[in-house]
Order: sequence, then C-alpha cells, then structure tokens
Amino acid sequence: MTDRAIPGWKDKTLFTPGPLTTSRTVKQAMLRDLGARDGGFLRVVAENRRMLLKAAELDPEEYDVIFLQGSGTYGVEAVLGAVPRDGRVLVVNNGAYGARMARICAVAGINHTVLAYPENLPANPADIEIALMDEPAITHVAVVHLETTSGLVNPIDEIGAIAARHEKQYFVDAMCSFGAVPVDFAKARIDWLVSSANKCLEGVPGFTFVIARLDCLRGSKGNARSLSLDLHDQWEYYGRVGQFRFTPPVQSLLAFHQAMVELEAEGGVAGRAARYRGNFETLLAGMRAMGFAEYVPAEHQGYIITTFMCPDDPSFDFNVFYDRLSLRGYDIYSGKVAEGNCFRIGNIGRIFQEDMEDLLAAIRDTLRAMGVGTLNR
Ligand SMILES: Cc1ncc(COP(=O)(O)O)c(C=O)c1O
Repeated sequence: MTDRAIPGWKDKTLFTPGPLTTSRTVKQAMLRDLGARDGGFLRVVAENRRMLLKAAELDPEEYDVIFLQGSGTYGVEAVLGAVPRDGRVLVVNNGAYGARMARICAVAGINHTVLAYPENLPANPADIEIALMDEPAITHVAVVHLETTSGLVNPIDEIGAIAARHEKQYFVDAMCSFGAVPVDFAKARIDWLVSSANKCLEGVPGFTFVIARLDCLRGSKGNARSLSLDLHDQWEYYGRVGQFRFTPPVQSLLAFHQAMVELEAEGGVAGRAARYRGNFETLLAGMRAMGFAEYVPAEHQGYIITTFMCPDDPSFDFNVFYDRLSLRGYDIYSGKVAEGNCFRIGNIGRIFQEDMEDLLAAIRDTLRAMGVGTLNR
C-alpha cells in the first residue's frame, strides 16, 4: 500500500535527487528512543552493515562498511582525507560533485590533478590512461558514478580497470546510484565507495557510509586531516569498542534498517533498478511527448535523474512553474549545469509509475495554465 491510501500520511511527492519520499514504515521505524550503547541499537547497526555488504555482493573478509554521521559530502571528504600526505588524486570533473571533490582537496591541502569535461559528457577512459602515464605521482583516481548535476553516468568499470593496471587506488562516489544501479566491485576494482542513507536506499538523512577494501583502509591509518572524519579511527573504534566514537544518528540508523528490509523485499538492487527504470521511461516518454528535450545525450543518460531544457518560450518561467507544481504537491528540482537553462526531475525514492503519471498530468496542466504554447501538447 502506498502512503497516498492513508489519510494524513501523504506529503508532497519529491522528484528530487534527495532527500526523497520514503515509505511510511521507514518513517515509523524512527518512533523509538534508544541509547547509543543499547544492545538492540548496536545489533541494528551490525545488521545494516551485513545487509549493505550483501547488497554490494561483497565478502566481509575483503571489505567493510564505515558509517559516518553527516551528509554524503562528509563521506567523500573522509575518503579524500585518507589519501597519504605524499599522495596525489586524479579527480574526474564533469559536474558539481566532481568539482566538489576538487574543492575538498583544495581546502584540505590534498595534492590533486583535475581532468575536466563538459557537464553533459562522460569521462573518456583513454584520457585517464594518459593522465596516469603523464603524472606518475598520482596515487588515487576519484570519479562520480552518476553525476547528479546532469544525470549522466561515468564508465566506472573501464576507469577502474585502468586505475588497477597502473596500481592506483580507486574511489567511486556512488551517492546517487548505489542500491539502484548495479555496481560490480570486482569488475570495477573499487577500493573506496561512498553513498548515503537518503538516496536510492530510501532511508532518511543522517549519515553517509563508506565501503572500503580492508587492505586500503588499514593502510590509511594516520592519514586523516580531520578527527571527526577519520575513517580508520571510526572503523577501528567500532571494531574494538563496538560503538560509534561520537553521538550516532540513532533514528536514522533504525529507519535505514527498515529501508534495507524493504530493498530486499523488492528484489534487492535488481528489483529497485527495475522500478526506477520504469519510472524513468514513463517520465521520458511523457516529457518528450510534451516537446521537452534532455540535456544529456540518451546514450550517457542514467535512469535516476534527468535534466530537461527549459522551453524557449517567453511565457515559461521556471520559478512560476516550480511553485505551481509544488502547490499541487509535486516538488521537482532546479537545474545545476553551468551552461543552459534547464531543470531536473528525479524518479527515485518511494515513488511508482502512478506518481510519474500524476506528475506528467500536472506538468501538462501547469504549462497550459502558464500559456506556454510552443510544446506539442
Ligand atoms: C553524486 C553526489 N555526490 C555527492 C553529493 C553530496 O551529498 P550531500 O548533499 O548529502 O552532502 C551528492 C548529493 O546529491 C551527489 O549526488
């Protein structure tokens, strides 16, 4: 049963990159008070770790999960902060989150080299190979899997194979893909991956998590530039003491456990991928039928979030369009790419085919009410 069937439970539907619409049962899992050292709570955390490794199809002898308080950026910053002082990161930048990695490095004084692309094009693995040959001082390669800025997908398997061939550590920001876009750690040779509770796993905000290859994690001891973002310290403390170092987001971790149960009930990553892909295909067909064009070429577009160009019509004002949709109960997202007048629609979270159809009908009505006349409606 979706929340729309229960009076009072239906908030606006979020067609954003997160935080997202969550199930009623995920929200209800938070209605508890548990101490940070409570045995029941610690069992939930251990279970969350086990379920994440299962979803990633990883061996606990090879990889571990580190939960870290804060949003996704904290996890990205923690992994970059684990690069040795004499290391150097090759940062692939084709959007705001690649750019954020470079900024994190600049602020923390981490040596880095940026490989930049236009925001609607994926990284070219051949360029990574050249960059690694040109600059042997590079020790790590960092890339965003699904660039939420535009919705494009970077070729993480091909880039990982090159990084492994050159014996570099490989870091993938899978914030907006993990849990709904299959990630093959063995094929992509991933050493570090970051995601967050409130994206495709459909939990609520409160923490980020890092999945780390144990030998890389052990080798990073003492590298952190920050106490609170020291992954090795958090991992070691948890292993030794069985607790978080600092106040854990208890309710968020309880909600996450329920979210992981619901992921398994949906058929795991494959099941969630199927629902999101269906949502995306409905959205794309409906938007194209109204005359909207996408920013990212179809062959590079992921099925998580889509950037649409604003209609070239003087009656179209994105803020008015946004407000009118929001008043009707549908929250879309503004554009983030540097060039181009555009907006984004996400199709992730606890939303289904009927939500996509309702949104499309609302968009059609809103455009008509605004007098936008150039689209084929
Ligand atoms: C790919 C990617 N990386 C990093 C982040 C940063 O996450 P947060 O806003 O939770 O700090 C986001 C947020 O949407 C993202 O989509």
